[in-house]
Amino acid sequence: MGRMQVQQGDITRLAVDAIVNAANRSLLGGGGVDGAIHRAAGPELLAACKTLGGCETGEAKLTRGYRLPAAYVIHTVGPVWHGGDQGEPELLANCYRNSLALAAEKKLKRIAFPAISCGVYGYPADKAVTIAVREVAQALQAHEGVETVIFCCFGQEMAELYRAALAQG
Ligand code: AR6
Repeated sequence: MGRMQVQQGDITRLAVDAIVNAANRSLLGGGGVDGAIHRAAGPELLAACKTLGGCETGEAKLTRGYRLPAAYVIHTVGPVWHGGDQGEPELLANCYRNSLALAAEKKLKRIAFPAISCGVYGYPADKAVTIAVREVAQALQAHEGVETVIFCCFGQEMAELYRAALAQG
C-alpha cells in the first residue's frame, strides 16, 4: 500500500500517532469533527487548547491526545469557503503543509486527516480533495520520516472522491 491511504469512519477511533482536527481560530471546540475529537479526548484537551492562544487560518498547533487512541492532535484551521477568490485554496493548502511539517518536526509517523473545511466551512469537496492529495503528496516527498497519511472520511461519497484522486496519481 502507498503512503497515502483512504479510510471511511470516525477519526476519533484511529490509533495513529496524530489525528488532525479541523478546528476554528479559537481552538476552544465546536461542532463536526472538532466536537467529536473534544468529546472523545476528554476535558484535558480543552484545558490544553486554552493555553495555545488560538490559531490563525492555515496554521497548525499540537496537543497530546489524552483519552483518544491517537497520541497527539494537530489542530489546524481551514478557510471558510467564500467562492474561491478569497485565498481559500492557498489557505487550505497551508493546513496540510503546516500540519505535516509539525508532524515531521515531532517525528510522528502515522497521521490521519479529516476533510478539512468540507463540512460547516462549505469548501466544495472535489476542489478540497484535489488540494489535499496534491499537498500531502508533496509533503511526503519533503518529509521522509512521515510514513503514512490516512484520509479519514466520514461518508462514502467523500471516500470515493479521495480514492479517485489517489488513483489518478
Ligand atoms: N471523523 C471523520 N470525519 C468527520 C467526523 C469524524 N468523527 N465528523 C465529521 N467529519 P467539519 P470544517 C467530517 O464541519 O468544515 C467546527 O465547528 C465531515 O463530514 O467538522 O473544517 C469547528 O469548530 C466533513 O467532511 O469541519 C469549526 O468551527 C469534515 O469532517 C468548523 O466546524 C469536516 O467537517 C470547521 O468546519
